[in-house]
Amino acid sequence: MNRISPSILAADFSKLGSEIESVKNADYIHFDVMDGVFVPNISFGFPVLESVRAITDKTLDIHLMINSPSRYISRFVDAGGGIITFHVEAEAPESVHSAIDEIQKLGKKAGLSLKPETPSEALLPYISKLDMVLVMTVEPGYGGQDFIPEMLPKITEIRSMINKLNPDCELEVDGGINLETAKLCVNAGATVLVAGIDVFNTTNRAAHIEQLRNL
Ligand code: DX5
Ligand code: ZN
Repeated sequence: MNRISPSILAADFSKLGSEIESVKNADYIHFDVMDGVFVPNISFGFPVLESVRAITDKTLDIHLMINSPSRYISRFVDAGGGIITFHVEAEAPESVHSAIDEIQKLGKKAGLSLKPETPSEALLPYISKLDMVLVMTVEPGYGGQDFIPEMLPKITEIRSMINKLNPDCELEVDGGINLETAKLCVNAGATVLVAGIDVFNTTNRAAHIEQLRNL
């Protein structure tokens, strides 16, 4: 069974509390942090995360699209992050290692994300200690983009890397996920599906989450 992580980037922020309540059968809540530097867009940060933390006991799945994320690990943990994922492209290799270690020392799960053009081999130095790999299936920065099908072979490669080197590591996909593209990702080896527009633009969100979960 797949795990589902609705991205609140696609929610209506004027009623964030009830939006989160409407996806309460999901496994995680996906929280996209963008700094306007690592990606062209700016989203939200600590005050929003703290407010969300106060109204749900779900695991908050934080996706940091920011430069030098190691500066902010403890802040995101303190604000309520349960899984902290950052981009391999956003740090020097030694800082990638130390950021993963810091997240895990603070008792949280550490994830590493790859932009579409970054090859799966970039994970090799870190894969054995990661709790999650996040494969971007669109260019990070905006919700509502079309899934890039060329990412499917990369998902397959990472699945075999995980099976060989760290079988408990979760494999998450993010961007352009709907029932059709989710099925392709699950067949390629994904275990966690992020979905923004696909979930929040649906009237019966709970039923839709169940469908995604049981693909
Ligand atoms: C994009 C974000 C995604 C985004 C997905 O940079 O990382 O989490 O919200 O949105 P959809 O599912 O609408 O493509
Ligand atoms: Zn995301």
